[in-house]
Amino acid sequence: MTDLADLKTELLGAVEGAADGAALDAVRVEALGKKGRITAQMKTLGGLDADARREAGQALNALKDEVAAAIEARKAALEEADLEARLATESVDVTLPVRPQPEGRIHPISQTMEEVAAIFGEMGFTVVEGPDIETDWHNFTALNIPPEHPARQMHDTFYMADSADQLEGAAGKADGDDNAGGAHLHTGAMPGEGPERVIKLLRTHTSPVQVRTMLAQEPPIRILVPGRTYRCDSDMTHTPMFHQFEGLVIDEATHMGHLKGCLIDFCKAYFEVEDVPVRFRPSHFPFTEPSAEVDIGCSREGGELKIGAGDDWLEILGCGMVHPKVLEMCGVDPERYQGFAFGMGCERIAMLKYGIPDLRTFFDADVRWLKHYGFLPLDVPSVTGGLGQ
Ligand code: PHE
Repeated sequence: MTDLADLKTELLGAVEGAADGAALDAVRVEALGKKGRITAQMKTLGGLDADARREAGQALNALKDEVAAAIEARKAALEEADLEARLATESVDVTLPVRPQPEGRIHPISQTMEEVAAIFGEMGFTVVEGPDIETDWHNFTALNIPPEHPARQMHDTFYMADSADQLEGAAGKADGDDNAGGAHLHTGAMPGEGPERVIKLLRTHTSPVQVRTMLAQEPPIRILVPGRTYRCDSDMTHTPMFHQFEGLVIDEATHMGHLKGCLIDFCKAYFEVEDVPVRFRPSHFPFTEPSAEVDIGCSREGGELKIGAGDDWLEILGCGMVHPKVLEMCGVDPERYQGFAFGMGCERIAMLKYGIPDLRTFFDADVRWLKHYGFLPLDVPSVTGGLGQ
C-alpha cells in the first residue's frame, strides 16, 4: 500500500496547483473518480485482516474527505478570482465623456405629417396617397371645376411639357376662330371613354385623391391624404411646391356638424391648446357645397405669433360637404351617400405651431436651420406619447 502521507501531499499539491476549473476537475477524477488513486487504495482493503482494514479504511476515508474539501475550497477560490478578473475588465469608466448626440434631424414637414396622421389615425382615418402627376380630369373636371375656372389658367398650374403644347395649340385655335376649342380640350375625358388627348399636370391640390378613392372603393370612406402639391407661384408666402392634407369622409349619415366637430378636435389636439378659438367662415369651392374656410385665433403682439385667444385670425384650411356632382362623377350615389372633405396646408400649420417665420426656409436645405427647427429621430409623435416640442 502506497504511503498515505505521500499520496496526501501529492494530491493536495495537485489541487493547489490547478490553475482553472478544468484542471481542478482533472485532479478530482484522478483522486476520487472510479479509477482514481484513492478509489484504487480502497479496493486493496479487502486483502487486509479485520483490524488492519478498519484502521486503513478510516485513514483512507479521512484522506478522501480532506482531498474533497481541498477541491471545494480551491474551486471557490478559482471562481472568486474569475469574478474579480471580470469585474476588473468589464468596469465602466463613468468619468468618460458622453457619446456625441446624433446629428440627423427630422424635417418639420415630416414631423407635422406624422403628427397630423397620428391625430386623424386616432379618429379612424386611414392614410392613402396618390400620384403627383395627375390628369386634368382627376385634378379638375371630376371635382366640378369647370373649364373656365381660374385655377385652370397656366399661371397657376404646371402642365407637363407635351400637355402644355396641346393646350397652347388649342388656345391659339380658339382665339383665331372664336370657338371654345380650349374648353373642349380641358374637359378631358371620363375614365374609360377613350379620350383623344389626356392632359397631364402636377396636381394643384390633394383633392384628386378624393376622386381616385371614391372610384376605387365603396363607402363608408374615411381617409387622410398627405402629399406634395404644386402651383406656379413663388413669393414670401408661396413656394411652387408645398404640402397638403386632404380629408374625406363619405357615408350615409355624416353632416356639417361632424365636419365642425372633427376639425375643432383636430385643432385642439394639434396645437395642444384646450380652448383654441376656431372660426368657420362661409367660402366657395366648386367641389363642396356648402363650403367654409377655417381660421384659428391668434395674437401678433410684439411681432410674435401666438395661437389662442387674441384679436387676429389665421386661415388654415378649406372644407365643406362634398358636392353631389362630385359624388356622381365618382360613381357614388348622391341620393344615398354624403360626407365632408377638407384640405389643409402643411407648411402653414407647421409655421404656426413651431414659430417658423419664413416659408421659404423650409426648402433651403440649410443644416443650421434643420438643427434648430428639426426633431430628434426617435421622438415619434403619437397622441398619447406627445406630439411635437
Ligand atoms: N383643395 C382645396 C385647396 O387646395 C382645399 C379643399 C379641400 C377645400 C377639400 C374643400 C374641400 O384649396
